[in-house]
Amino acid sequence: MTAALDILLTRSLHSRLSDLDLDNIPFGKHYTDHMLEVDFLDGQWRQPVIKPYQHLSLAPSMAALHYGQAIFEGIKAYVDADGNPRIFRPLDNFYRFNISAERMQMPVVPEDIFMEGMKQLVSLDRAWIPNKKDHSLYIRPFMFSTDELIGVRPSDNYKFLIILSPSGPYYSAPMRIHVEEQYIRAAPGGVGYAKAAGNYGAAMYATAQARKHGYDQVLWMDGLERKYVQECGTMNVFFIIGDTAITPSLEQGTILNGVTRQSVITLLQEAHLRVEERPLSLDEIVEAYDQGTLKEVFGTGTAATISLIKELACRERELTFEVEKWQYAPAIKQKLMDIRAGRIPDLHGWMMPVG
Ligand code: COI
Repeated sequence: MTAALDILLTRSLHSRLSDLDLDNIPFGKHYTDHMLEVDFLDGQWRQPVIKPYQHLSLAPSMAALHYGQAIFEGIKAYVDADGNPRIFRPLDNFYRFNISAERMQMPVVPEDIFMEGMKQLVSLDRAWIPNKKDHSLYIRPFMFSTDELIGVRPSDNYKFLIILSPSGPYYSAPMRIHVEEQYIRAAPGGVGYAKAAGNYGAAMYATAQARKHGYDQVLWMDGLERKYVQECGTMNVFFIIGDTAITPSLEQGTILNGVTRQSVITLLQEAHLRVEERPLSLDEIVEAYDQGTLKEVFGTGTAATISLIKELACRERELTFEVEKWQYAPAIKQKLMDIRAGRIPDLHGWMMPVG
């Protein structure tokens, strides 16, 4: 239970909702009428404010722009069968947000600011939640350092915000993936497990190279030996080999502990598939493909939900899959959608009502 939080509300005088073309909502390009903003100054979180979505005025010397103390989360809200807004597993994202904050030497955000602030904001802008297949209200909490200082040290001051974006699918079709064996995303001891803005910036060069060659994303290999698969673009990754689903394990701290990943593990187990979280080598994947036991490959993420992978390009080869014939990933995707839309019972308590 989060305690009632005193939030100063300034309503927008005019809603922009009628400008939104509900039949064409690209991912992350439109923002709702309001946003939450809270400053951390002199060691204290200040008055949370919900106000009309607007630009920020920031100093050119602001620390985050120079040294990258910036973290974020991605969460989604849906409406249930009766039109009530509900958020998918936001507490898990809250915990992960503060794990990222700690790793980046930033202040932890109190639970009431994060959770109650998000609920009040989503409730206020509930009319913006798309009620359409593969659509949702994408919630983006983020925090960055705001000291005006060119010296390199952790900032004393920070800004925490939540903005909301009504969104269609992030990846709309089965994906072609380039297995990246040259560049790396993370290494043990680094920040791979944190949702740090810089992780995404650092991934862009290799991703752009793959795109030039017609691939949608890259599958990262481990930073030490380039032997074990890690994550795929903005997603965790699953391989079904024989009657076992395998996803890379978290203990090296190099991949993101995905909330969708956790949910998919649960749903796969409920579908009576064995699930293993363990190091998985590219050799094992290629061998399983050649033996005909590699059945399904897919990515999971908040933005991506569950994205089927129809091709893996590696070692001068193209491993291709007939995704139309798959059994598990499409069924799990449908089940997750049904839980979110309230079409089937939420047995795990994943959906948080907004009130
Ligand atoms: C998410 O899945 O929520 C992400 O953060 C990925 C991305 C859009 C950066």
